[in-house]
Amino acid sequence: MAESQYIQWFPGHMTKTRRQMEKDIDLVDAVVEIIDARIPHSSRNPDLPGIVGKKPLIILLNKSDMADSSATKEWIEFFKTQNITALEVDCKTGAGLENFKFAVKNVLSDKLEMYKNKGMAGKALRVMVAGIPNVGKSTFVNRLAGIKKANVENRPGVTRSNQWYTVDKQLELLDTPGILWPKFSNNTIGEHLAFTGAVKDKVVDIELLAVRLIEILNKCYPSLLLERYGNLDLNSEPYEILEQIAINRSFKIRGGEADTVRASNILLEEFRNKKIGALSLERVQDFA
Ligand code: G4P
Repeated sequence: MAESQYIQWFPGHMTKTRRQMEKDIDLVDAVVEIIDARIPHSSRNPDLPGIVGKKPLIILLNKSDMADSSATKEWIEFFKTQNITALEVDCKTGAGLENFKFAVKNVLSDKLEMYKNKGMAGKALRVMVAGIPNVGKSTFVNRLAGIKKANVENRPGVTRSNQWYTVDKQLELLDTPGILWPKFSNNTIGEHLAFTGAVKDKVVDIELLAVRLIEILNKCYPSLLLERYGNLDLNSEPYEILEQIAINRSFKIRGGEADTVRASNILLEEFRNKKIGALSLERVQDFA
């Protein structure tokens, strides 16, 4: 199989969602983009700025509990240099979310001032929740708004009323389905999305994916690799390391050969379950 083709993605229904977001953007005051703190570059949809336009944007680096906190802090500083407010959060526990409402008010301070001057103080701010699949959008909305769906019967332009959620009198959220984009600009993006599960394993070559993950872990977190998988010769080729992982775990196929497919699945599962450790696959300096 040609390497450049091993991650394929056809967005299908996502085109429809994108069009809906382009219409719905007029209904909100700001956008919160949820990304995966382990892969802040690859989990940003390059099409989103075109949809957001000039509306204020807040980025949440979610799943920060699974990422390397020093890398996350560097990303937050990087976004600051781009004039984007970014917060480190863990929507599963709610850590960091206490700063979200303040951040919304801050990016919309002009609007709040205008409401005040027009005697409209107290009018709720409306924020669209965007992000690729599996970054934690539903978890975020549930944590902030629970099941409090907004009363939107008479709101103009709303076609899917069940997407509005009330956080409190001052804040409403418009949830959107996760979308990817039609073509990844390089294999790294597709791979990183597959590592975290945003792109499903069935569209990727699992062994090639595992080998790529071993390459990254061997470069950036060799001690975590050894801690988890025991005695490995980290000077070997990545595929050989995968074989060693299989042997160390007694994953063998008939004839005693290493079962590298099983080892690949386990490696990816353990990365996704944080069993290898809290780690970041992307650093600012590699992308900025
Ligand atoms: P989505 O709407 O963007 O598609 O994502 P969703 O909220 O469904 O979250 C996807 C998975 O990520 C869920 O796990 C969710 O629990 C997990 N998740 C969301 N935020 C965080 C976070 O900050 N930290 C961690 N560690 N996990 C997070 P799941 O395995 O699909 O479900 P479950 O195990 O929670 O039942």
